[in-house]
Amino acid sequence: MKAVRIHKFGSKDALKLETVPIPEVGESEVLVRVNAAGINPVDTYIREGSFAVLPTLPAILGKEAAGVVEKVGDGVQGLKEGDRVFTCLPDNGGYAEYVTCKKNYVFPLSERLSFSQGAGLYVPYFTAYRALVIKCRIKPGEVLLIHGASGAVGIAALQLAKACGVSVVGTAGTLEGMELVKSLGADFVFNHKEKGYLNNAVAAIGGQGFNVVLENLANINLGADLTVLNQQARVAVRIPVVGSRGSVEVNPRSLMLTESTIIGVKLMGNTEEEHLEAAGVILKGIEDGWVKPIIAREYALEEASQAHHDIIHNKGARGKLVFKV
Ligand SMILES: NC(=O)c1ccc[n+]([C@@H]2O[C@H](COP(=O)([O-])OP(=O)(O)OC[C@H]3O[C@@H](n4cnc5c(N)ncnc54)[C@H](OP(=O)(O)O)[C@@H]3O)[C@@H](O)[C@H]2O)c1
Repeated sequence: MKAVRIHKFGSKDALKLETVPIPEVGESEVLVRVNAAGINPVDTYIREGSFAVLPTLPAILGKEAAGVVEKVGDGVQGLKEGDRVFTCLPDNGGYAEYVTCKKNYVFPLSERLSFSQGAGLYVPYFTAYRALVIKCRIKPGEVLLIHGASGAVGIAALQLAKACGVSVVGTAGTLEGMELVKSLGADFVFNHKEKGYLNNAVAAIGGQGFNVVLENLANINLGADLTVLNQQARVAVRIPVVGSRGSVEVNPRSLMLTESTIIGVKLMGNTEEEHLEAAGVILKGIEDGWVKPIIAREYALEEASQAHHDIIHNKGARGKLVFKV
C-alpha cells in the first residue's frame, strides 16, 4: 500500500511517500481501507520531533481517517467488511491506503457525511467535547468566546456549543473565515487581527464578559483572555486552553477577581469511558444534523509536504484539511 512515512524527525521534507506492506489485523482490531485522512497541526509537531509523545520510527503519521472496513479481527463485533467507518488513531497511521485500529476507536460513518468529513471527526470534535463538556461542564445560557473559530477545532466547538444552548462569539482572521463562522450559527463574529476586537466582543454581549473562553492560540491570547471574563458569573469562569505554540505573560490578578480557572485540555487525556461518551454524543449529533465538519481543502498523499506547510502557515482557516486517498 501507499503510505506517507517519516524515517527521522525533521522538516516537511522528512515526509516520504512509500510502498509498505498492508498491516495485519489483530484480534481486537479493524483493518480499514482509507478514503480520507485528517491533517492536524499535531502531525507537524510529531514530524518535527517536538511533541510530548513520539512514535517509533519509521512511522506513518495521521490521527484520524475514514473509509471502508476491509477485515475485522475475531474479537470484533458489530462491524463487517464493507461498512463505512471513521477511525480515531491516537497511535497515528492515517496517512496510508490501509490502517488498523482498536475496536473502540472505529465507528460507523453515517451516509450524511462524506469520507472527507468523516476524516475530520476525531481530533476536532472529540477535543471540542473534552474542552467544553468534560473539562468545563458548559451550561445552556452561558456565553462562550471561541478564539479561533474558523479552524477545525473552533468549528467543532461552535457546533457543539450551539447544540448545547450556549451563546457563542467566534473570531477569525479573514472576511471569508468570519462569514463561515457566522453562517455556522455564531451569535457574533470578530476579526482577531483588528485592533480593539475584544472590547467590541464584550460590548456585543452586553458588557458582562464571558463565562468560558476556548483558546486555540494561548501563547498570543491568554493574557488578553483574562481581561474579558465575566466578573459576576455564579459559576467560575473557565478558560480551556486547547492550542498553544509558546509562552505568554499573564496578570494573575484577573484570575483572582473572577475566580477563574485555566484548564489545560489534552485529547489523549480521555479515559476509555470519556472517549465512548464523546463518541456517543458525536454519533447522535451526526444523526441530529449539528455535527457537520467543513472541509477547506483536499490533498493527494503526494502533496504531504505542501499540506504540512499549509496547516501551520496558511492565513485564513476555513475548516479542515484532509488527504483524499
Ligand atoms: N490540546 C489538544 O488535545 C488539541 C487537540 C486538537 C488541536 N489542538 C491544537 O489546537 C489548535 C487549533 O487546531 P485546529 O486543528 O483547529 O487548527 P486550524 O484548523 O489550523 O485552526 C487554527 C485557528 O486558529 C486561528 N488563529 C490564528 N491566529 C489567531 C489569533 N491571533 N488569535 C486567535 N485565533 C487565531 C485561526 O484563524 P484564522 O486562520 O482565520 O486567522 C483558526 O481559526 C492547534 O494549535 C492544535 O495544535 C490541540
